[in-house]
Amino acid sequence: MIQTLPDIDLSKKLMKWYSTNKRDLPWRKIKDPYSVWVSEIILQQTRIETGIRYYLNFIKKYPNVKVLARSSKQQLLKTWEGLGYYSRVLNMHKAANQVLLIHEGVFPKDYFSLIDLPGIGDYTASAISSICNNEKQGVVDGNVLRFVSRLLKIDDSIDSLTTKKQIKKYITEKMSSSNPGDFNEAIMDFGSTVCKPKNFYCNSCIFALDCQANLSDLVKNYPVKSKKNKVVKKEMSYVIILSQNQKIFLKKRSDKGIWKNLFEFFLIESNNKPLTNELIIENLSKKFTLKSNKIKFIKSVKHKLSHIELKINFYLIKVKNPKSKMYDLSSLGRIPFPRPLKVILDDIL
Ligand code: ADE
Repeated sequence: MIQTLPDIDLSKKLMKWYSTNKRDLPWRKIKDPYSVWVSEIILQQTRIETGIRYYLNFIKKYPNVKVLARSSKQQLLKTWEGLGYYSRVLNMHKAANQVLLIHEGVFPKDYFSLIDLPGIGDYTASAISSICNNEKQGVVDGNVLRFVSRLLKIDDSIDSLTTKKQIKKYITEKMSSSNPGDFNEAIMDFGSTVCKPKNFYCNSCIFALDCQANLSDLVKNYPVKSKKNKVVKKEMSYVIILSQNQKIFLKKRSDKGIWKNLFEFFLIESNNKPLTNELIIENLSKKFTLKSNKIKFIKSVKHKLSHIELKINFYLIKVKNPKSKMYDLSSLGRIPFPRPLKVILDDIL
């Protein structure tokens, strides 16, 4: 059980801080549940500066839930290209269709309707319902977990669901009744700009004399985390195949992995070993007539995902015009790629 501090007026102090430190974010101007939803899904996986750019582009292309529901998945993935966690945008597409079906196209703003939509969990439902419907639902994101775990010096791991639920209960009890949405945005802003993971500003912090971790000079030890992210290393190789008539070989990924539905070049799995020219030629010659045996090694790049560290080797080869389907280079602007593949394409074309 976490030890709470009965005498701290968290809400009053936080709201005072927020009145002069509120960040000017585009979705804060209108308390529209659709826009807040879009912003929250984007912000779950990216820094605020990048998030704003993606948000503005997304809202321009999909200004409301009807346009989103009717869009093509490929176009959506292209808009999401580079953000990662592509299943999130596909869930948004499913949720948008559900909103048309069940809520007659009006994006819901109450917690219990929201939590029933695909891809919406406690965090997103709490954010939207507090901001747009004044519901007292505390949000618990990484920033909030860090701030509260330091403030109360919580020795339980923040990875545990029980700790998260206790922190949610604590902030929901403490939050402003007149403006729960502002309280939630304030606590997230405070966590991300003051009570930061590393360069925290304890000397000038408004909670310096309340914060149990600071008073014990142990801020750097909090939050406590139990999970050690086990990172698996994997090596893979792509051959970019260009034909004489300037077409490129691409394949849509169909496996269940992170890049499902995105496009890739000719993939050669090599059991984490570097490829030899012989192996590349052997793999390619079943499908293509090579112009020559000249294979150009482009480069190797490292790409980190949450649990996997990929080393990706890129090669380039020219082939005679094949019978199998190739893509015009002019169509690349409409085709979604995993980020490292897009970076290579922008480099070489
Ligand atoms: N991080 C994610 N959502 C946020 C919000 N609405 N305000 C501040 N920081 C956030």
